Amino acid sequence: MNIIFLGPPGAGKGTQAVRVCERLGIPQISTGDILRRAIKEGTPTGLAAKAYIDRGDLVPDSVVIDIVRERLAQPDCQKGYILDGFPRTVAQAEALATFATIDKVVDINVDDQKLIDRLSGRRVCLACGGTYHVSQLNGSTKCERCGADLIQRDDDKAETVLSRLTVYHAQTAPLIDFYRERGLLVTVDGALPMDDCFAAILSVLGA
Ligand code: AP5
Repeated sequence: MNIIFLGPPGAGKGTQAVRVCERLGIPQISTGDILRRAIKEGTPTGLAAKAYIDRGDLVPDSVVIDIVRERLAQPDCQKGYILDGFPRTVAQAEALATFATIDKVVDINVDDQKLIDRLSGRRVCLACGGTYHVSQLNGSTKCERCGADLIQRDDDKAETVLSRLTVYHAQTAPLIDFYRERGLLVTVDGALPMDDCFAAILSVLGA
């Protein structure tokens, strides 16, 4: 099954995509993770993307569309995938439709105040991709899975979070109607506890 996870920053797209991909045996394709890796490695794409991400803006459509087109051509995507964080503009969605057939779009819905709390408390492991909230960590600064240091993403600082939410409402939220009109949209309540949200996603996917 070819799936898109849509939703604002902090909705839980990454958290749930990891679990659903594990359950379905398909890859998670996160454009945010791919871009952060490119920044860390200092590639030309990473250097071009960094200023946009630091401001909370979207990276230009042409850059991310090329990334996703190349990634979906890899053999592990033949049995399905979850796109986490792509598409984020109508132009990206229209481009995607020219090289992929999407079966379901899961909109994970959470209100802005909860998103601000989640993002300002998020800590991530750059080594294995683990994601936590400070309220789960009992003061620990190490990843429970691999023991590496946890960090706060630069774009989770308060002022950047607000700008990411503004960008989401202006540029990405219109995709909800875009996919509803095409009969692909299903919605889950992302404010549910993590296990309940996972169960709700499996249910709407019929998985
Ligand atoms: P990206 O990395 O995609 O960030 P995002 O969409 O802003 O999403 P997040 O990773 O912040 O949130 P999430 O929904 O995955 O939430 P998570 O599971 O971590 O993109 C970063 C940047 O890259 C963009 O701003 C842009 O510049 C660029 N970019 C990426 N893709 C692009 C594209 N297609 N086009 C252009 N530019 C692009 O959860 C958040 C927190 O909440 C965690 O702490 C987690 O533990 C907690 N949590 C999750 N679920 C629950 C729950 N049910 N209950 C309680 N806590 C929960």
